[in-house]
Amino acid sequence: MLTCYDASFASLCDTAGVDVLLVGDSLGMVIQGHGSTLPVTLGDTLYHTRCVAAGSARPVVVADLPFGTFQSGAEAAYAASVAALQAGAQMVKVEGGLWLAPTIAYLVTRGVPVCGHIGLLPQAVHVLGGYRVQGKSTDAAETLEVDARALGDAGCALVVVECVPRALTPRLQAAAGVPVIGIGAGPECAGQVLVIYDALGITPGKPARFVRNFLSGSSGIAEALGAYVDAVRDGSFPGPEHCF
Ligand code: KIV
Repeated sequence: MLTCYDASFASLCDTAGVDVLLVGDSLGMVIQGHGSTLPVTLGDTLYHTRCVAAGSARPVVVADLPFGTFQSGAEAAYAASVAALQAGAQMVKVEGGLWLAPTIAYLVTRGVPVCGHIGLLPQAVHVLGGYRVQGKSTDAAETLEVDARALGDAGCALVVVECVPRALTPRLQAAAGVPVIGIGAGPECAGQVLVIYDALGITPGKPARFVRNFLSGSSGIAEALGAYVDAVRDGSFPGPEHCF
């Protein structure tokens, strides 16, 4: 999985063999220049979902439901999901654990495939107090395990796990019972995701520990995306230096 926001990158990712394109609300940071994902609107997500869907054929397109579009309840989440699927997504992603399980079950029952997201939740940055590794204490790890089980039981097709200690990931994978896609969660995941601009070294400033610049050492963007796919498939990315 890679994030993707436009048709040109979607086409390159498709050719490179990326299986899943996530129209992440990270677009608020890497495209719109905000300091967080919170200002992203459903309209923004729908626009970028249409662009990605137009530029790709094979990958599954997953649309992130933005902050404020699903937290208030299942019916609001369903309305946002219908708009996302009508814009060209095949799945929606929602951030949250146990508390979100009834909403996820409501969506799946009504024909909306759902990707969960636990660990570091960028939409909850002000509750978490920053972009920090999650699940470090025994209690926090157990809470994440409960969250992972609840998301799997509710019918999630995939679960993104962001920024947790590598040692915790197999427990979350077992609890979820569906493929776990890691970002800063170590190599013991069914798949990996990166923000595409991070994977190409475009994002300004010091990269996060879990990021590798695949453009460095490649002859161009197409080769870099292929190198990402190969490294995830052969297990060489993420390496120990990318883990917590
Ligand atoms: O919005 C996003 O890009 C994401 C990924 C970091 C998983 O949620």
